[in-house]
Order: sequence, then structure tokens, then C-alpha cells
Amino acid sequence: MTAQLSKKGEAWSARFSEPVSDLVKRYTASVFFDKRLARFDIEGSLAHAEMLAHQNIINAQDLADIRRGMEQISAEIDAGSFEWLLDLEDVHLNIEKRLTELVGDAGKRLHTGRSRNDQVATDIRLYIRAAIDDINGLLRDLRSALLDLAEQHADTILPGFTHMQVAQPITFGHHILAYVEMFGRDAERMTDARKRVNRLPLGAAALAGTTFPIDRLRVAQTLGFDDVCRNSLDAVSDRDFAIEFCAAAALVMTHISRMSEELVIWMSPRIGFIDIADRFCTGSSIMPQKKNPDVPELARGKTGRVNGHLIALLTLMKGQPLAYNKDNQEDKEPLFDTVDTLTDTLRIFADMARGITVKPEAMRAAALQGYATATDLADYLVKKGLPFRDAHEAVARAVRSCVDLNCDLSDLTLEQLKVFSPLIEADIFAVLTLEGSVAARDHIGGTAPNQVRQAIAAIRKELA
Ligand code: ARG
Repeated sequence: MTAQLSKKGEAWSARFSEPVSDLVKRYTASVFFDKRLARFDIEGSLAHAEMLAHQNIINAQDLADIRRGMEQISAEIDAGSFEWLLDLEDVHLNIEKRLTELVGDAGKRLHTGRSRNDQVATDIRLYIRAAIDDINGLLRDLRSALLDLAEQHADTILPGFTHMQVAQPITFGHHILAYVEMFGRDAERMTDARKRVNRLPLGAAALAGTTFPIDRLRVAQTLGFDDVCRNSLDAVSDRDFAIEFCAAAALVMTHISRMSEELVIWMSPRIGFIDIADRFCTGSSIMPQKKNPDVPELARGKTGRVNGHLIALLTLMKGQPLAYNKDNQEDKEPLFDTVDTLTDTLRIFADMARGITVKPEAMRAAALQGYATATDLADYLVKKGLPFRDAHEAVARAVRSCVDLNCDLSDLTLEQLKVFSPLIEADIFAVLTLEGSVAARDHIGGTAPNQVRQAIAAIRKELA
């Protein structure tokens, strides 16, 4: 049987005695979502055709015809005039059918030595590679917006929390740099996943390779792949590279979600640490006073769908025997939605980071509550020779008495402080200030404004 596109369009019509029902046709078709792979499908086909001509498998005229036809098809797709047909099942058959309409036999020769199985795997890899490059650009932009915010607030003090309880004073710049670190690792993960995405499946054909004298390395080079997939069965069947990408994407969204949670808390009037520009917020249809942080809330919510897509792909893969199975067609919608959600979110967050107004007085007032400098007092006693556990005990007693007196540690007089340890002297008051507390944590990774500035400079250099 020679597979060819019949008038009705099915690539395998000669083998079949009855048509599929409309419902089955709709159920099995992918064209209405995989048409967004068109640009990559054409790019892959052109590289394949060039190799076929170079290897004298098709002639120079065929190649010229294929190029001319693909140019017109690209123009039609860009113009929105390309007619996508459900009857032609997917992006690959739609384009091939139109090519044959436009250039005749050369169009029918394009599929020599190739299968839709290696074709679709190639398209998906090209798609993810482009997505990763976009996402890394967006991560860079977000990090640079956060660096600006961190720099403006290298000295701004707020309470740092553990267990959502005031722990120790920190600088806002330092807090923001934590996210810059997270998004930096996210970019590293994307770059690492890209290495395994960037290998060429074409040449695997349906599953076993092809009898034609193809040159896979040539196609790989044309398409900018680092290498070819080394086993044809693996090349057409595994989607681990897509799963890895989704895992990296889920982590980006997880970091976005954590940051969103903080933005929502910080913007609550009860906390009032920040304001977010109006263009990222909405009001209430009933409560006139409301300004809600919708964008961070939605991003937190959308993290669920991206995490879900990762699980969908893992589940899609786990039961499949070698080699290609139609299950793999289901990789596309989760993947596309992952890319759309992530790129939109990153774009909006970079812009929103520039629309955050910090309220240093509210942060400072909060840092003055909750005995944030208690550890500093303990460290002070240790430096005067008291073992740390004894110092901890002495400060705990001091804090308890402040709770009774309803005051801060720095409000106690020297005489009052000395009750808890005779080692305490007048120099304690510098230690108990918020500025003294953060400035004293002056080492790599510490919250001192000086360290924050150095970290910002180092990351800026990395991003340049
Ligand atoms: N639309 C299919 C997919 O997304 C293309 C490959 C189909 N191959 C096949 N032998 N049915 O995976």
C-alpha cells in the first residue's frame, strides 16, 4: 500500500473500507490545537527536504517547488486565510495536503523517509526550545525589575518572619533578593532542560529508521539541534523532555505563587507594607472601598493548573509501551497552556514589580513589635562571655517582663536590663536598634544593607 493523500484527504484511505464517524473524527483530530505548531512544522519540513535533495533522494526541482509552496503556505497562515480542515486530522496532514495542491508531486515526495511520528516529535522540540528562550528572557526581565526594587530598599527595614511570627529585622532589599535567587535557579533549570530538548528525532521515521540514505546530522545542523536522538524508538516515543520542561515551569509558578501570597498579605490594610499599582487590581461590585490584588491572587491560582499539567504529562507517559502511541497527541494542550500561562504571568509580574510602592514606616512599626532584636541581645551576652544557652534564658526572661510592661526591649532602662544579666552595659542600646541589628549581619548572604548592595551588583553583572 502506498500512503497518499486521497481526494477526501485521508493519508491511508486505500487501506480502509469505511469512513470514521464524525464523532470519532473529532475525537482523534488535533488540528484545532496543534495548528499552532505550523511554523515549526514548516521549518522541520524545509530542513528535511533540503537534506533529501542534498542526498539525491528528491531532485533540485522538487526542493524548489517545496520551498515555493511552503512560502505561500506560511503567508496564508500569517494572513489567516489558510483553511484548516478537521478531515485532515492534524497540522502535518493539513500542510502536506495544501503543499500538494500547490506544487503537485513534489509535495507528495516530501514525506519520503519520514513519518508523522518523528515529525511531531521534532515540532514539539522546536516549540519547547523557542518557549524556553522566551521564558528565559522574561525571567531575566523580572529579575532585573526585582533588582531595581531591592536596590531602592536596600536599607528599608521590616520584620522577617518564621512561622508567620516576627523573628528578626531584615531589609526589604534582602527579602526581594530571595526571589531573585529563586528565579535565577528557575532560569538555570530551563537552560539545563533545553540541552535535552535540543536533539533531533527526525530520521527515526515511524519507529525503526528508514531505508533511504538520509543524513540526520545535516538536518540537525540546519535546525540548530546540538545532536540527533541516538535511538529511533526512543526518539519517536518519549516525551521526558516535555515533562522536564513542565516540571521547571511548575517550579517557576510555585515561586511566583509564594511571592503572590506575600504581596497579598503585605497589601492587606491590616499589614499595609505595600501598595500595588491600580492597573493590577480590581474593585468590588458591592463594596466601594475595596481594592483587591487580583493579579497575584490569580497567579497563585493559576499555579494549580500548571502543576496539574505536569501531572497530566507524567500520567500520559507512564503506561506507554515502545514506541509511538497516539496517547502522545495529548501532550500538546497541557504543554501549550503551560507556556501561555507562564509567559503571561512572567510578563505581568515584571511590570507589576515596577508598580509596587513600599511603605517603609509601616514596615518599621511592625519590626518594632514582637521583640525582633531579642537574638541580638542574646548574641551580645555571648560576646561578653556568657554561654549561648544561658544568654537565651536571660533574654527570654527579659522578653517576658517586656510583655508584662507592654514595651520593647529597647524601652527598658540600663538598670532594668541589668537585672537579667550584669554583663549588660550602656553599649547595648546600639545593638537593640533595628539598624544595628541588620547592619551586624554583614557576611555573604546576610541581610546587612551593605551585603544587599554587593549581591545586587553581582547579579547585575551576571545579567548583563
Ligand atoms: N497528531 C499526532 C500527534 O500529535 C501526530 C502523529 C500521528 N502519528 C500517527 N501514527 N498517528 O502525536
